Amino acid sequence: MIPPAVRIVGIETSCDETAIGIVENGRQVLANAVASSLPRHAPYGGVIPEIAARAHVETIWQVLEQALQEAQLPLQALDAVAVTQGPGLPGALVIGLAFAKGLALSLDRPLIPVDHLAAHLYAGEMTAPQLQPPYIGLVVSGGHTLLCVAHDEGRFELLGETKDDAVGEAFDKVAKLLGLGYPGGPAIDRLSEQGQAARVPLPRPGGRAPLDFSFSGLKTAVYREVQKRLSAAAEGSRLKAQGDSLEPRALSLEPQVTADVAASFQEAAVEILVSKTLKACQRTGVSQVVLGGGVAANRRLRERMAEVGAQKKLQVTVPPPPLCVDNGAMVAGLGFPLLQRGRTAPLSIGSEPNRCLA
Ligand code: KG4
Ligand code: ZN
Repeated sequence: MIPPAVRIVGIETSCDETAIGIVENGRQVLANAVASSLPRHAPYGGVIPEIAARAHVETIWQVLEQALQEAQLPLQALDAVAVTQGPGLPGALVIGLAFAKGLALSLDRPLIPVDHLAAHLYAGEMTAPQLQPPYIGLVVSGGHTLLCVAHDEGRFELLGETKDDAVGEAFDKVAKLLGLGYPGGPAIDRLSEQGQAARVPLPRPGGRAPLDFSFSGLKTAVYREVQKRLSAAAEGSRLKAQGDSLEPRALSLEPQVTADVAASFQEAAVEILVSKTLKACQRTGVSQVVLGGGVAANRRLRERMAEVGAQKKLQVTVPPPPLCVDNGAMVAGLGFPLLQRGRTAPLSIGSEPNRCLA
């Protein structure tokens, strides 16, 4: 007898995306609806938690309706409710959690709390159904940069993490310095195509431990390179320097120089991520790799990981971009193995803003 399909709804509100997915049997994406409050944050150059939380409240019901419409299912067809419990912005997480509780209560369905970072990696398992743990997980997002081994039964072993900025944060800050707006990752990704990385030398700093990361040094090196080029330009045109703040003056970089800086920064960040991931494979003897998180949407990172994977005979899985950035389908997907393991929770649970692969 064919077992009945289990349809799980996944609710994701850890940052600025209000995202709801519906996934069948942990693999088949029936819907992946998302509303982003990004335009409301853009004038501030970063996510404002209060604005994100308000936007979740305003849009979450519409996003659920959109997901149900996409999946062509009535509310009653949902078998369980998975929700991001953490990590994330405290005020944003509680909106999704409260909504999920209301849904679970009214439908009389189980509630499944999900770790956001584990969900990013589970997107890899959804992408490559033949993939079995153990695999090396590289989570690269706006809030996190870490390497881990994903074992079976949803157990994770942390190998290393960033000691300062997350790589996505570094992309966003460098983009701001270059006047490319927010969010910076996609802007740097696009502009880098027109730049030549070799024209702007940048270091490849690592964390103290071999598998840790540190991106603040790279960011500072970009500031210095920009400052050097601005000073040279000012000198050349006999302009006077206008104080110490780089940001307003950075806008006056030549467009080609801006593209070169963007390309060089991206190349350095990608090289650091790829080389540490390779090191993690060598140290553990694990030859499967999964990338997750918004920065995994970066084209150069995807390209380099594929090249190095082929060279070193690693099996690299990178989810399609809509499953890399924050989304509800990865939460709904991970809900399935958790439900099978009985990892449901009472309606009394709270959010866990500092959770990390728990
Ligand atoms: O996973 P995510 O959507 O949200 C968090 O959990 O943080 O990641 C967002 C981060 C942002 O820093 C954004 O700039 C970055 O992912 N990002 C990218 C690209 N698309 C999104 N970074 C580099 N290249 C991209 N194409
Ligand atoms: Zn994320």
